Amino acid sequence: MQYESIHTAEQPILAMISMTEGKLDLLTRVTGVDADSILAGASILRSGGLVAFPTETVYGLGADATNPLAVAKLYAAKGRPSFNPLISHVIDQSAAEKLGNFCDDARKLALAFWPGPLTLVVPKSYNCDVCELALSGLETIAIRVPSHPVARVLLEAVNRPVVAPSANRSGKVSPTISEHVSHDLFGRIDLILDGGRAEIGLESTIVYCGENEVQILRPGGISSSLLSSVIGKSVKNGTDVGQSNDKLTAPGMLSSHYAPNAFVRLNADTVEVGESLLSFGEDEAKNAERAHKYLNLSPSSNLVEAAANLFQYLRILDTEGVRMIAVAPIPNIGIGEAINDRLRRAASPR
Ligand code: TXA
Ligand code: MG
Repeated sequence: MQYESIHTAEQPILAMISMTEGKLDLLTRVTGVDADSILAGASILRSGGLVAFPTETVYGLGADATNPLAVAKLYAAKGRPSFNPLISHVIDQSAAEKLGNFCDDARKLALAFWPGPLTLVVPKSYNCDVCELALSGLETIAIRVPSHPVARVLLEAVNRPVVAPSANRSGKVSPTISEHVSHDLFGRIDLILDGGRAEIGLESTIVYCGENEVQILRPGGISSSLLSSVIGKSVKNGTDVGQSNDKLTAPGMLSSHYAPNAFVRLNADTVEVGESLLSFGEDEAKNAERAHKYLNLSPSSNLVEAAANLFQYLRILDTEGVRMIAVAPIPNIGIGEAINDRLRRAASPR
């Protein structure tokens, strides 16, 4: 792997780790979650190791955000380009305010949705101790306070900000069960805490809060109308694929992302020869009997259930060696916006 643009103070560390990429033959342990295993995870994080853990959205791959060597190891383990910054996870609002400057809107959103599936991007504070490498040299920082009990006990025990991207190899769909993490990262990280299925199944909603605007950088379970109702003004959506220049973006959202190996065709109302079908609700696709493999995200048309199943079903179809996936139309309301966002990325040219 190559790191094309390295623009942080930790360049030598990143270059060193980069040379060992592919040879991160760590002894990965997978354990269930109890007080002992979570404390063991915390101690690995504090000493610079990498620990995957469940959150209510997807599994995260944690590293000590203040330790550039640990963060460099994390980029290498995921095969993630260093220009893609990481979300810092903290236990509460007061820990968050040490890292970033919160305007009134940001505070209102934090109060309404933390702990929970919301990431706020705010200007980084003067004494923010998250390393430059984790921020990719940006003047803003992405912060999240998760609600999952395992994540919370872990953060409490580490007592430092923990960066945690989704625990998948870069470019692949996010993991919703620990087996996905093992599949992608076994031998590349120290510990996987298996806390069962991540309930929501899609990554957090990312919202940028600047001086004069609040903008969604990545849709998730918290819809734009809910965000608007909390701050009492409209929230721009900056996430369309093929963004124009006046829209802000999360650097990790620019390219084709969340991609299965198979080609994906959206809004399919018919199944072509050789295709598998990812359905939703009652089956209306013509020639559905042609489908090579068939999975239904939610036979009862429940969008929350569909969100929880999406990444797992894309991975199942990959495991089965499927080459083309036709996806039935998904209503673009509520969490359906986030499902369609991920599907568009899965279908965009690579
Ligand atoms: O639900 C989630 O958010 C999960 C769990 C583990 O917390 N994490 C996650 O992290 O999805 P990751 O790294 O896979 O996605 C984070 C996204 C990337 O697209 C990155 O570019 C963007 O957040 N990001 C991070 N810092 C940013 C910043 N300062 N400005 C804009 N985007 C930022
Ligand atoms: Mg990710």
